[in-house]
Amino acid sequence: MASVSLWQEFLIMKFIVNNGGKLAGSIRVPGDKSISHRSIMFGSIARGTSHISGFLEGEDSLNTLRAFQAMGVSIEGPEQGRVVIHGVGMRGLRQPAQALDLGNSGTSMRLLAGLLAGQGFDVELSGDASLSRRPMERVTRPLASMGARVSTAEGGRPPLRISGGADLQGIEYTLPMASAQVKSCVLLAGLYASGKTCVTEPAPTRDHTERMLNAFGCPVDRAGATACIQGPASLAACDIDVPADISSAAFFMVGASIANGSDILLQHVGINPTRTGVIDILRLMGADIELLNETEAGGEPVADIRVRSAPLKGIHVPEELVPLAIDEFPVIFVAAACADGETVVTGAAELRVKESDRIQVMADGLQALGVDARATDDGMVIQGGEISGGSVHSHDDHRIAMAFSIAALRAQGVITVDDCENVNTSFPDFVGLAASAGLSMRADD
Ligand code: S3P
Repeated sequence: MASVSLWQEFLIMKFIVNNGGKLAGSIRVPGDKSISHRSIMFGSIARGTSHISGFLEGEDSLNTLRAFQAMGVSIEGPEQGRVVIHGVGMRGLRQPAQALDLGNSGTSMRLLAGLLAGQGFDVELSGDASLSRRPMERVTRPLASMGARVSTAEGGRPPLRISGGADLQGIEYTLPMASAQVKSCVLLAGLYASGKTCVTEPAPTRDHTERMLNAFGCPVDRAGATACIQGPASLAACDIDVPADISSAAFFMVGASIANGSDILLQHVGINPTRTGVIDILRLMGADIELLNETEAGGEPVADIRVRSAPLKGIHVPEELVPLAIDEFPVIFVAAACADGETVVTGAAELRVKESDRIQVMADGLQALGVDARATDDGMVIQGGEISGGSVHSHDDHRIAMAFSIAALRAQGVITVDDCENVNTSFPDFVGLAASAGLSMRADD
């Protein structure tokens, strides 16, 4: 497995996107990444067999799947989004033969740190070059106060080394930043702790962990900003229908909004209110977005989303919407570049510690395309106007690569995006689906 990631880091895939065009038709983007990760994790430690459908067959969630296989869980699939997990129970995981390589996936590393902190075996969690730069003290600190023994490399970076046999105690923890990964890490450690574990968040973040633990028969009590579980807990198998990922749908929402004459239907998208910040932000900018066929799947609200092109205007993005749209900012910045007037984003410093520094990388790329975009410590100021053609760099970040591809719909010339291999982490066959919807693009190795 290590040799595969090494090879991938040397593969340079480029997107070449012709300017112009419009988006049309009815498409289903791949499964939700956050829900896919959690379905494997919870299915693995549950008693009984869980059937998953709509699973994201992207590198990130596949790395989670492989990690549990390496810990002795029998998992069938994925085959066309179907996965069957033969859960081993809370204490059934076995020590993996080698370090668990989680590739590019911060969610895998941070959630696994919590889930593995209370196991009886030692384990090491490692990742690719991008993941190895990301901050992990945000999880090791609360875990240490629960009694876990988790060490990092220098500067609080991966790899993480977890020593088994720790006797975990529940804690009351107030998150220093709005992070669903840290919240989930602490709650998952709490499954193995004695007593109650409570996490309070400074602003609402995605609540898939809480919802899915409830579905797996482990009650999570929520009172205001605090979520609590009683440990030690156990999970019972549950079938999960993973909706399409709103973070992937967001590229087409912006694309259809900015490209004249567009009218696209995005099928069966998860519209959990802790994830719909992108819809609220685009609507504030004037976007024409309609939710149809609202229903529920696997404890999560879903809908078809129809988006038609509309003139956008610049806004000051309300800070309370930032954590609810945290992964969508690369493409929201593209919407801002196409809007009439100034868009200001503040309170988004977390963007600097994602798969890349998404504030700097997007500001640099937009400037390379002639847009007046100024990075600030915690956001960006963008003057809407024309986008030229040109060449930009994704810095190995999937969402940057896809955001600049979408920008071509309104550009004056061809946009090439370097370093796009990691699009496979969250959106396998982005090129094929985008092309079927009307984006004139190809990938070039
Ligand atoms: C995620 C939480 C978010 C998000 C990431 C997925 C999750 O990270 O950016 O892509 O599945 O819990 P933070 O918790 O660091 O904000």
